[in-house]
Order: sequence, then C-alpha cells, then structure tokens
Amino acid sequence: MPVVRQYNFMNHAGVAPLSGRAAAAMQRYIEEATHHAYARGGLYPEAKRVRQLAGRLLNCHSEEVTFVKNTSEGISLVANGLQFSRGDNIVTCGVEFPANIYPWMNLHSRGVHLKMAPEDNGRVPLQRLVELIDDRTRLVTVSSVQFGSGYRTDLAALGTVCQERGVLFCVDAIQSLGCIPIDVRAMKIDFLSADGHKWLLGPEGAGIFYCRHELLGLLRPSSVGWLSVQDANDFGRYHLDFRDDARCFDGGSYNLAGIWALGGSLEWLVELGVLEIWQRVKALTDRLVEGVRAKGYRVVSSRSGDEASGIVAFVSDTRDHARIVSHLRQEYRTVVASRLGRIRVSPHFYNTEEEIDQLIEHLPGH
Ligand SMILES: Cc1ncc(COP(=O)(O)O)c(C=O)c1O
Repeated sequence: MPVVRQYNFMNHAGVAPLSGRAAAAMQRYIEEATHHAYARGGLYPEAKRVRQLAGRLLNCHSEEVTFVKNTSEGISLVANGLQFSRGDNIVTCGVEFPANIYPWMNLHSRGVHLKMAPEDNGRVPLQRLVELIDDRTRLVTVSSVQFGSGYRTDLAALGTVCQERGVLFCVDAIQSLGCIPIDVRAMKIDFLSADGHKWLLGPEGAGIFYCRHELLGLLRPSSVGWLSVQDANDFGRYHLDFRDDARCFDGGSYNLAGIWALGGSLEWLVELGVLEIWQRVKALTDRLVEGVRAKGYRVVSSRSGDEASGIVAFVSDTRDHARIVSHLRQEYRTVVASRLGRIRVSPHFYNTEEEIDQLIEHLPGH
C-alpha cells in the first residue's frame, strides 16, 4: 500500500487508496492498450479472469457476476429491471447511504412505496426490518454495513426471512467486500452491488454486480447495448436474444482500465483471505474502541458479536468533530472522516497497532 509513505490512512469507508497491485495492473493495461491495442491477445480476457475472482470472493459462479460503474448502477439495474404493481413496497433501513435509497424512491411514480426502519442508537435491529414486511413487500434492500454507524446486518438471518416470506433480497455490499466475508449462497442474497473504491482498494468506477442465476429471467435488462446479446460479435445480424448470464446487463464497452486495476486488488485480497483480513481488522478496531473510550468519547458503533465491522463511529459531547478531523489531517497526516455527526475511523488490515495508538494519542481528550 504505497499510501503508507504519506499518510496514516484510516478512511477506507470513504474513498480508499489504490493498492500497489491495483496500480500495477492498471499500468499493465496502459502498456498493453498503448502499444498493442487489440493486435495481440486483446484486453477483454482479463475481464473474464476478474469476474472469476469476484465469483470466488462472493462464492458464486462467475456467470452470475458482471461489472457496473458503481454501486448505484447495480442497485438501479434491480430497481428498474423488476416488474412492480401499484401498491407494492420495498423495505430498507432509514440510515442507508443514498445510493440505496434514490433508485427505490424513483419508483414512487410507478406507485411503489419505500418503507424505512429507523436506527436506534447506532443499530437497526433485524426485527425492525422484519416488522415492515407485509404481503405487498416485493424486496428488502440493505447495506451489509451501515456507512454512518458501522452496524453490520445479519445478512444470513435476513436472507432466510426473505426466502421464507417470498421476498427478494438485495444487498449494497460496498462497506464489506474486501473486509468481511460475504457468501451470497449461504446468505440467500438475490442481488448484490458494490463499487471497488473502498475496502477492495480499487479505483472508483469499476464495481461488481451479482444476480442469482435463477433470477436472470426475472430481471429485465433496463439498459441494453450490443454486448447484452448472444453472439455479440455477429454485428450484421440484429436480434435481441439476451445473454443468459449476468453479462446481459453489460450494454457496451467496458471500463477496462478500472476493471484491470480492480482485478489486481481482488487477486491480492483473495490470496490473503478475507476471513484473515477481517480477523486483523477486528483486532485493530477493538484496540481503537478501547482507546477512544479511555479518552472520553462515546462509541456509537455496536461492537457486540456479529454486529461489528471495520467502521468505528464515536462522538464527543463537547468537541467539534469537523475540526478534529481536519486537525488530524493537517497536523498529523492522519485521514479519518466525519459522517452523520460522528467521527468515523475505518482502518484496513495493513494499518498497524502503532498507527491506531498514534491516532488515539492525537485525538483531543476530555
Ligand atoms: C453504503 C454505501 N453505498 C454506496 C456508496 C457509494 O455509492 P456508489 O458506488 O454508487 O458511488 C457508499 C459510499 O460512501 C456507501 O457508503
């Protein structure tokens, strides 16, 4: 992680730095595209390999995965591709990042209502979501980890409820992928979307979209292009026979520079093992929580059992959070964020205990 030479970087829940592996892969793309274009192997075989890596990360078949330019685009594919009837509703949390709100609000004109479970002291208990499900609920959509609190949803439990109630299950996974294991099969996830620019240590604009194979017929491609169909290279024969894998959502040419870079990071993270990464992040964030509490801050993030994540949010009753964040950046080259009226710190596995201790030391006391 070249960023460590410049910063104590602990804002992976914001926009993360590129890993050295991502940067090297993008460099390789530049070399190939500059000097060879399509004159030899071509640039797309790498995209196939990256899809396979994504399949390993999610525990699904690579044909259930394709690329999107960001989380919002993947969620919009779901919102705009399903058939709804007037009076249907969608259930979500009241503290979602807007990427998982606006695509659903946009269905209002089609008579689809969005129901939101409120946060309670940094948590959105599962029961609150489940209580909102009724016989007109078509889909539940949640972030795997909430951006403002770090609250981790019990995806396996929610997926089971959705399956039992005959409701579709969509996940915004950007705050987990690359940090906390996600298994779409075990968690009964139907659709998942995540850009690569947070815990995956990839660039902005190259994300992953998963659609469970059995649902490919149900989710109509809402944005169609030449790559959406079978035999896409048979340019002179027009036919709208959609591909029978997730690439039916592709439309046209790829953001290959971004996808190559994403692949560099994905390969690294899969090699390291996301479970091992999570164990390390958990240890670092436990240390952080202990330190900020000792300094007199109130930790909002739930740290109990399976509710913890890589995000630690905390507040001070007396101090100005925005000022603390900019002070840390200017004086100590320490990068953290302020969100929803809380200080938000999100270290990744490569951060060190010393960096955590320095941050704690540099936070103003009470
Ligand atoms: C939970 C969540 N979803 C999505 C995003 C970003 O959305 P997109 O990838 O569409 O830019 C963020 C970024 O902060 C986020 O925290």
